[in-house]
Amino acid sequence: MKILVIGNGGREHALVWKIAQDASRPELYCAPGNAGTAAIATNLPIGAEEVPALVAWAKEHRPDLVVVGPEAPLCLGVTDALEAEGIKVFGPCEAAARLEGSKAFSKEVMEAAGVPTARFRVYTDSETAIEELDTFGFPVVIKADGLAAGKGVVIAQTQAEAEAAIRDMLDGGRFGAAGAEIVVEEFLDGEEASVFALCDGEHVVLLPAAQDHKRVFDHDEGPNTGGMGAYTPAPIATYDVMRFTKESIVLPVLRELKSRGIVYKGVLFCGLMIGRKGVNVLEFNCRFGDPETEVVVPSIASDIVPILMACAEGTLRDELVALRTEAAATVVMASPGYPGSYPKGAEITGLDAAAQTGCLVFHAGTALKEGRVVTSGGRVLTVTAFGKDLREAVTQAYEGVQKIRFDGAHYRHDIAAKAFKYL
Ligand code: AMP
Ligand code: GLY
Repeated sequence: MKILVIGNGGREHALVWKIAQDASRPELYCAPGNAGTAAIATNLPIGAEEVPALVAWAKEHRPDLVVVGPEAPLCLGVTDALEAEGIKVFGPCEAAARLEGSKAFSKEVMEAAGVPTARFRVYTDSETAIEELDTFGFPVVIKADGLAAGKGVVIAQTQAEAEAAIRDMLDGGRFGAAGAEIVVEEFLDGEEASVFALCDGEHVVLLPAAQDHKRVFDHDEGPNTGGMGAYTPAPIATYDVMRFTKESIVLPVLRELKSRGIVYKGVLFCGLMIGRKGVNVLEFNCRFGDPETEVVVPSIASDIVPILMACAEGTLRDELVALRTEAAATVVMASPGYPGSYPKGAEITGLDAAAQTGCLVFHAGTALKEGRVVTSGGRVLTVTAFGKDLREAVTQAYEGVQKIRFDGAHYRHDIAAKAFKYL
C-alpha cells in the first residue's frame, strides 16, 4: 500500500502519524511535509499547490491513495486531476470544494438545503451593500467570497466600520478576485465548535466535536490566528447537537449537491455556532481543521486507511470508525511575532523529552537544517496529550510543552478552559 499525503502542517503530520500505524504498514510520502513527517515518511520536494507536479508524481509512482490536507489544492481541482488518472483521492472534487472556496456558493447551497445559517445577502456592488446594511443590525459580518487565508471576515461594530470593510473589499480590491463578491450576514453569538463529517458522497460518519482557540492570547485576546490549540470532545456539542448536525446539516447538503451532479467525498468540516439561535453553520471547509485534527485524528482507535479509502470509494460505514474514550488537548507553540511576521531558523530542543512525558508532538512549521530541527513557520509545533478527562489531558499537554525550547516560543495557557465550566 502506497499513500501520498499533501501538505506540510500539523494536520498533515497528525495524518501521516496515524496512517503510519496502520495494519497495512503503508509506504508513505508527504508533499512537501516538514521535519516531523520526514521521520516517518519520505518528504517530496513538491509544494501542496503545485497540482501538475503532484499529478505527474502520482502518474509515475501510482499511489493507492492520495490524502489532501489543505484547501488550496482541492479548490484548484487536484482531486479531479488525480481521479482522471485513475488514482483514488481522499478529498472533494473542485466543484464540491467550492463549499469552502466560495462563501456565496456555500450560503446558497445551505439556503437551498434548508440548513440553518446566518441571514445573508450576496453583493458585488458597494453602494447597494451599504444601502442595505441596516437590515442586518450591528454588529454585522462582512465576508470576502473567496479564499483569503482566514483574513476575509470582518465583524463590524458600527456603520462606519462596515462601510469601510465593504469598500475595501469591493472597490479597493483588498482580497483581489476573492473579494470581488461579498457576503453580508447577521452576527450570531454563542460558542463555536468544529465537527468533521467523513463523507463518501452519500454516507456520513461524524468524528467527535472539537473546539479551536483562534485568538493569539489567553482569554481570547489579540488578533486571530490559524488556531492556537484545541480539545475534544467539546461538551457544548451534545448528543442532540451531533445528531442535528448529521441529519439536518450534513446529509441535506450532500443531497443538495448530488441533485446538482456534485458528489462530496472526503471530510466536510462544519464550523458551527451554538447559541440562543440554536445550531447554525458559520462556514463549511472542505478539509480537516488545524489544529483540531491533532486531537481528533489521534482519537480514532481503528485503523484510518480503511476509513479514508471507504470515503474515496463510496463504501463508508459506521463500523469502520471506533473511537478512544479519553479526552485530548493540543497546545500550539508559535514563533515570536506570530500571527504577524516572525523569524525562522531557530533551533528547537526538548522534543524527545516532551515525547517521553507521553505527549504526541506534531510538527507544524519545522524544517531540518544540518540534522537539527529548526523553526520554519508561524505555528511551529502542536503538543497533544490524552487524559481520562479534559483537565488531565490539558495538564499532560502543558507538561510536554514545558520541555520544549526555542527562541521566543509562545503559546496560550488557557487551552480548554472554556470547557471546564461544563464539567
Ligand atoms: P468563517 O471564515 O466564515 O468561519 O469566519 C471566521 C470566524 O468569524 C468564525 O470562526 C467566527 O468566529 C466569526 N464569524 C463568522 N461568521 C460569523 C457570524 N455570522 N456571527 C458571528 N461570528 C462570525
Ligand atoms: N482551525 C480552523 C481551521 O482549520 O480552519
